[in-house]
Amino acid sequence: PASTTLLPRGGLSVGGVSLAAVAERYDTPVYVLDEGEVRERCRTYRDAFPDADVLYAAKAFLCRAMVRWVREEGLGLDVCSAGELELAVTAGFPPERITLHGNAKSPRDIETALRLGVGRIVIDSPSEIPRIAAAVGPRGRQRVMVRVVPGVSAGGHEKIRTGTEEQKFGLSLTDGSAQHAIARILGQPQLELTGLHCHIGSQVTSVKSYEVALRRMVGLMARVRDGHGIALPELDMGGGHGIAYRPGEPALDLTALARKLRTGLAESCAAAGLPVPRLSVEPGRAIAGPAGVALYRVLAVKRTGERLFVAVDGGMSDNPRPALYGVRYAPRLVGRGSSAAPRTATVVGRHCEAGDVLAADVPLPGDVHPGDLLAVPVAGAYQLSMASGYNLVGRPPLVAVHEGTTRLLVRRETLADFRNRDIGG
Ligand code: LLP
Repeated sequence: PASTTLLPRGGLSVGGVSLAAVAERYDTPVYVLDEGEVRERCRTYRDAFPDADVLYAAKAFLCRAMVRWVREEGLGLDVCSAGELELAVTAGFPPERITLHGNAKSPRDIETALRLGVGRIVIDSPSEIPRIAAAVGPRGRQRVMVRVVPGVSAGGHEKIRTGTEEQKFGLSLTDGSAQHAIARILGQPQLELTGLHCHIGSQVTSVKSYEVALRRMVGLMARVRDGHGIALPELDMGGGHGIAYRPGEPALDLTALARKLRTGLAESCAAAGLPVPRLSVEPGRAIAGPAGVALYRVLAVKRTGERLFVAVDGGMSDNPRPALYGVRYAPRLVGRGSSAAPRTATVVGRHCEAGDVLAADVPLPGDVHPGDLLAVPVAGAYQLSMASGYNLVGRPPLVAVHEGTTRLLVRRETLADFRNRDIGG
């Protein structure tokens, strides 16, 4: 992508700004987000899916500027908590273009969704049906969808596969629980069932998995028509579109996905004698991921036995993904050139556990030393949004870069922030 343009002399530039300059100005560790790249990715989705709704999955990363960019680019929003929802609406996102997800919605989630007028709530378990209906009250009506398990296993890691009965999300197609929930919803005057939803997994690279899921979802829509005499007007196929984290890795082919979903939907609806429902997709990672870069300063270099450890000033508290999913990144030296021969290094964080490894066995120049800057590309999704307070290191700031300028969007977490929350003692 444009955001990883290599500059001469070993520097790396994002959004027209050198990463070394960002580190100098904002200190490290720091996350950099390229506004132009986010917007371009939103436009690529809009162009690929002209007749569908594209909802950005806020869980990948959300801040108020991101809310504005996504809104200006014409996308909707997928949220999974009252927190994400309130942030989006208070930042000016139209609530009717938001869908609320969650396998265990709290009373506050439901209350906030109804109070703010969220567009759709996706029902994930039977017990939610009377809860939401009661919260809507006798005169109201809320649009809802049903999350269905299509029985397709896909995704980059066991922990992010959500299409089969072995995991907690959704209602089964095969044991009748999806059909049962649909019948119950249709009997609730406070709920308006607009359609079905599925999300087969995340970091999916095969278009085929979506096609299979799509046909099963249309099959269920046909059964709903046969059993209840209604054609549901909407079908949400979720997100999960895989991206490359390292050069040469496969990514999901978006154009192929869009084409297959469109033709697959038209064909299977025609075969079932159903009108074609309005399609939606919910990409998170594919919009935010490649637009972000994490920048760290090397604090220590150590040779033990055969290994070269390069320790940086962040780690698993700002990026738990290598430890959680075994994801491999390709960190690179920035800010200076080096003609030293590459060595195999293990880039580790500063946290007090041995599993705090950011990138094992990656090539770095042999003269890497404390004070050097390392950039980890493709850091815009599920890193800052999953950051923790572990070891009271503090979560890094987020700096937006755009057309040669920088803007601090989220400031660094400080000891004062921790102290403010710690009200005992
Ligand atoms: N829609 C629903 C209902 C979802 O649950 C998710 C992600 C998405 C859309 C967006 O998926 P995406 O396009 O971003 O892959 N923390 C993990 C990923 C967890 C994804 C959870 N749900 C990671 O770092 O890989």
